[in-house]
Amino acid sequence: MSKPNGITTKIFLDGGDPTETKEIIELLGFLDGQTTNPSLVAKHPSFQACKEGDTPCTNDDLWKAYREIVTAISPLVPESVSIEVYADDDTTADDMIEKGLELNTWIPNAHIKLPITTAGLTAAEVLVGKGLRVNMTLCFTQSQAAAVYAATKGANPGGVYLSPFVGRLDDRGENGMSFIKNVGKMFEGSDGHVSPLVASVRSLDHFMYTLAIGADIITAPGKILREWAEAGMPVPDESFEYNSNDLTDFPYEEHDLSADWKSFDLSHDLTKNGLERFASDWNNLLG
Ligand code: E4P
Repeated sequence: MSKPNGITTKIFLDGGDPTETKEIIELLGFLDGQTTNPSLVAKHPSFQACKEGDTPCTNDDLWKAYREIVTAISPLVPESVSIEVYADDDTTADDMIEKGLELNTWIPNAHIKLPITTAGLTAAEVLVGKGLRVNMTLCFTQSQAAAVYAATKGANPGGVYLSPFVGRLDDRGENGMSFIKNVGKMFEGSDGHVSPLVASVRSLDHFMYTLAIGADIITAPGKILREWAEAGMPVPDESFEYNSNDLTDFPYEEHDLSADWKSFDLSHDLTKNGLERFASDWNNLLG
């Protein structure tokens, strides 16, 4: 099986288990890439003993297991595997740079996942300057998206992914897909070094609408990719009607992409909560 005709969006799996990656490739006949994060990796069966408290894990055990997982996934997907640095309130840009450089040695097709915070963007600027590829995660505002663009100027096309989290916006009554459209519009006519990657996908409708509007990349959990396969892997066009029910659309904001990234407002409670959740899922595995 090959990619369905007319599909322009790259399809990634959002997960933390190479067994699932193989299953999805078998099912779809292709898979362009994969995103991982600490919460997804923490679900891997190899951590079950740590969770139950039988065999406490050390931080080194966790990174060793994360490395094994990512190393097994890497040769299965052509484009990229996103590997996330650990970040909490005390993590500095230097910590993220050091970790990012280490993670990048694990596999040849890495994107280093960093949060859109001052420390994360400082690290991104340095890592992109050294030729690394980055995936800027937990994006919830156009201002954050503009800051990512401004901080990573000079990166190669495809060198910077930007991950807006659709589902987490929907969860609080805001139309995540309208945010995706606004980000796409803001980057129209830009130099193309930032590729939006639709993340936090919860439904087949999110998936189908992303294909219909031709976003660069979507990362979806195995459950949604299985639903798409069951439906015969349809590729909708612009006439696809997305039903956002009672969700509130985001108004479009004008931002100057040539401004200094430090001038943009980076704050968002979902970015803060998201970081806390990733950190606690990781720390819960530690003895
Ligand atoms: C993206 O890279 C994240 O791993 C992911 O999409 C988060 O999804 P969630 O909001 O369902 O946790």
